[in-house]
Amino acid sequence: MISIDLTGYTALVCGASRGIGRASATVLARAGASVVALARDGAELERLIGHLSGTHGQKHQYLVADMGNPLDLEKKLTPLVLEHAIHILVNNTGGPAGGAILQARGDAFESAFRQHLVSGQVLVQQCVPTMVAANYGRIINILSTSVKQPLENLGVSNAIRAAVANWAKTLAGELAGQGITVNNVLPGATLTDRLANLTAAESKKRGVPVEVIRDEMLNVIPARRFATPDEIANAVVFLASPMAAYITGINLPVDGGRTRCL
Ligand SMILES: NC(=O)c1ccc[n+]([C@@H]2O[C@H](COP(=O)([O-])OP(=O)(O)OC[C@H]3O[C@@H](n4cnc5c(N)ncnc54)[C@H](OP(=O)(O)O)[C@@H]3O)[C@@H](O)[C@H]2O)c1
Repeated sequence: MISIDLTGYTALVCGASRGIGRASATVLARAGASVVALARDGAELERLIGHLSGTHGQKHQYLVADMGNPLDLEKKLTPLVLEHAIHILVNNTGGPAGGAILQARGDAFESAFRQHLVSGQVLVQQCVPTMVAANYGRIINILSTSVKQPLENLGVSNAIRAAVANWAKTLAGELAGQGITVNNVLPGATLTDRLANLTAAESKKRGVPVEVIRDEMLNVIPARRFATPDEIANAVVFLASPMAAYITGINLPVDGGRTRCL
């Protein structure tokens, strides 16, 4: 059996208090990484840190920060990166609200751009020098399959994911010569609070039971089930590992076959 050993590496995992980020923090810690868990909900992060595996002698910590406020994020990251080399960055945050693109207000695009792209830029600018110094770097962005095929009713999200994917591809080219990889994981429908919120909002809007919405979603997934957060995290931990050293600049759907294009 091949096992992934991340002992000695530190992973900064954003959006770690819940869902895919939380699962990524858990699986990375299980593989031996020290985790810095970042989100807004400090109480939830503290609970997470208490549950993370420490069997490889690693130390975990958390950082309360709002990715909707890149200046504040930068201020909070500066002391962290002075003390710790960050070898693995999981760039993840909450997704924009659903809705048709025609109805979206300008400020929804602006705040999504700030939270997803400008904060990603701050994270990368803070972490890359430590990756270069440590001679190891893995940047993993959690985006969406909408990078490849826009999803209905997620107008702002579709727009921002395309921007972040192009940002990441550009970075991948710039950083590849320094042994730093940049890849995007594209989750399909995954059993987290976000999925529950989106299905509840759609059920309310259309006046149909939530089960109807769930069945419609399942009908377009060849695997006929939703992903668990751990299944997305397993892709993250692989891309974070030395085994993935020659993979950079890719978009990896983890979606049970839902995306119809190549
Ligand atoms: N679940 C799916 O089906 C699915 C499918 C495709 C793509 N995705 C995308 O994958 C990403 C993660 O999804 P998820 O399902 O895990 O979402 P989730 O369950 O809503 O969790 C989002 C995480 O991001 C954190 N977060 C939200 N806003 C933040 C902010 N301003 N600053 C810092 N942290 C923030 C939240 O913590 P705090 O509230 O404590 O800050 C939470 O830990 C999202 O971009 C989502 O759109 C999800």
